[in-house]
Amino acid sequence: MRKKMIAGNWKLHCNLREASDLLLDLRRLLSSMRHCDFLVIPPYTALSQAAQKLEDSRIALGAQDIFYEDKGAFTGAISGPLLKDVGCTYVLVGHSERRQLFGETLDSSLLRVKAALRAGLKPLLCLGETLEEREANRSAEVVLAQLEAVMRECTLAELEELVVAYEPVWAIGTGKVATPQQAQEVHKLIRERFYAQDAALAERIRLLYGGSVKPENAGELLAQEDIDGALVGGASLKAVDFAAIARACA
Ligand code: PGA
Repeated sequence: MRKKMIAGNWKLHCNLREASDLLLDLRRLLSSMRHCDFLVIPPYTALSQAAQKLEDSRIALGAQDIFYEDKGAFTGAISGPLLKDVGCTYVLVGHSERRQLFGETLDSSLLRVKAALRAGLKPLLCLGETLEEREANRSAEVVLAQLEAVMRECTLAELEELVVAYEPVWAIGTGKVATPQQAQEVHKLIRERFYAQDAALAERIRLLYGGSVKPENAGELLAQEDIDGALVGGASLKAVDFAAIARACA
């Protein structure tokens, strides 16, 4: 049985005071919930403080992106070793906002996955099709191509470290959520691709759904066979909503 994971991507929200308050509330509300794993992904500026606030808690810390070089003349970039040093254990790779707004490519997703693994971080690899691609019936093709770009270059041991999030781009921050059936269909395809690689890996790997997850829709999504958790944006900024999403998968 795969343990569910609920991850909160705070995006560009929360100054230090707000982050501190949110973490305090999350610790209080989540401390008795043992049925799933938790991950929070604050902006870079709140990571150091968050690591302290999360000490001795069951909530893991992640970063929203990683540059693929470890050090050097790369103004504005943050590397794997720096994220590890500040207390992160996870890092998002290939989030669609990074791809659409900051020009990150599929090739660089692979480099970022490799950089994360090199630093001892677990990559949370985001995949997802645009509305145009879904309407052209290309969801499966697009998502599998995104996955393939990373899978074909990774060893089995490297793939074991991965968490995958299916986030249809048209459902992110739009209030439009994939139906449980639509999400399950793509999750199943992703898991089948892992089966083709290694059955034990496919059984173990966690596939999260992301895109307008809220307390009201979480239960049905998380009940799907191949959905092992949620990557939550907007609703992760309210501790009570994040906790309600976690309760929905109990
Ligand atoms: P959302 O964001 O829940 O606000 O749609 C999800 C994400 O981008 O990870």
